[in-house]
Amino acid sequence: MDIWRIRGGKRLEGEYRVQGSKNASLPILAACLLCPGTVELRRVPRLRDVDAALEILEHLGCRVRREGDRVYIDASGVSSCEIPHALMERMRSSVIFMGALLSRCGEAHLSLPGGCQLGKRPIDLHLMALRTLGAQIEETEGEIRCRPAALRGGTILLPFPSVGATENAMLAACAARGETVIRGAAREPEITALQDFLCSLGARIRGAGTDTVRVLGFTPRRRARFVIPADRITAATFACACAGCGGKISLTGCDPRHFSTVLYFLNQAGCAIIQKNDRVTVSSAGRLRAVGPVITAPYPGFPTDAQPLLMAALLRAEGESLFTENIFECRYRQVPALRKLGGSICVSGREARVRGVERLHGAAVDATDLRGGASMILAGLAAEGETLVRDLGHVTRGYENFDSCLRSLGAELYLTHEGENHGLSFQVP
Ligand code: EPZ
Repeated sequence: MDIWRIRGGKRLEGEYRVQGSKNASLPILAACLLCPGTVELRRVPRLRDVDAALEILEHLGCRVRREGDRVYIDASGVSSCEIPHALMERMRSSVIFMGALLSRCGEAHLSLPGGCQLGKRPIDLHLMALRTLGAQIEETEGEIRCRPAALRGGTILLPFPSVGATENAMLAACAARGETVIRGAAREPEITALQDFLCSLGARIRGAGTDTVRVLGFTPRRRARFVIPADRITAATFACACAGCGGKISLTGCDPRHFSTVLYFLNQAGCAIIQKNDRVTVSSAGRLRAVGPVITAPYPGFPTDAQPLLMAALLRAEGESLFTENIFECRYRQVPALRKLGGSICVSGREARVRGVERLHGAAVDATDLRGGASMILAGLAAEGETLVRDLGHVTRGYENFDSCLRSLGAELYLTHEGENHGLSFQVP
């Protein structure tokens, strides 16, 4: 078990170059299956989820090599279209391999994906999209088998702009004969990144970033090189950390437009935000003001992934902040831990009311999911005394070198493992 050991109360000062995007990397790694040759990806973050995707690619017969932040994938010798449960269960986005396998192999056999327990997280929209293109899909006790079938272009109508379903549809459409139109598509920047990557393979795709994506079936090139864009949620995480602790940090190598709704609320709360090209400077002094309503929605609305992070930043804000979570049914799982750290939060259905308190105090808490665990760490950084966040690997699924990056900004935080102590005397009340 990972244990995050935090001694709170330190201001954050300095510069952080934002990691490559986890949620752009994962569908692009699956899309590498389409290339019957070698792909070079740059700025690929070192994350447990990325490791899981690379293991799936190797299991399918790809040769994978990592050199620093570069990953080389040779998919010329794909030899299987089956992903075992042990590999599928490690993350939600393993389901994206279904569209990629259909595109490359014409068939696929996998089990239902794993990932953060944020609610039911069905894949009905994924299956509807692929069936619209002619995929013959059987579902039996958690197994999904896509029988060999020639895919043909069609019009997919998504009733909800599901990110994963949009990505799966785009990948399968690459091998469909004729044009596919995806209406009601997700508009997240990760969709645009996937389109850009597929275009580097020779795809004829347009419309990513809007609610209608058009894909023409194509024959992929044998070589491609692509740079993963910055992780907008990691950028938002560090911005919220600075807001909650106080200080001044610059986030570099990122696109502020991709997390502008988070920056808007931090500014409303009293932070100074300066944006210049790919650099965002966040300053926070004195007590923040409560904000709201913060209503999560599909992009370009407020990102659900940033809801726990902004909540942590506002635990000591003067007044009452209001959140409404519209994307996942169980996205307030961080609340009991934030209360244990001194937060005053009242949850009623999809609404959460955060009444600011003067101070937070250290505690021992358990991470519940990726962004929930990150929110607990952010609250611990702002709390008096020591905090332990016990974690079954949730946070390291999405944050690269989170401990050393926060320490470089002045935080007193160590990632240890059960049984280690690093000589730290954490007397947790
Ligand atoms: C992606 O998940 C992200 N994950 C999530 O980030 C993010 O929270 C989410 O999009 C929303 O922005 C990756 O990109 C790897 P959805 P995804 O399909 O694709 C319902 C993180 O912390 N739905 O847009 O699973 C679903 O239940 C993670 O990095 C269906 O009903 O999200 C949910 O309520 C957490 N049927 C809503 O749509 C379906 O077939 C949004 O899901 C698919 C989804």
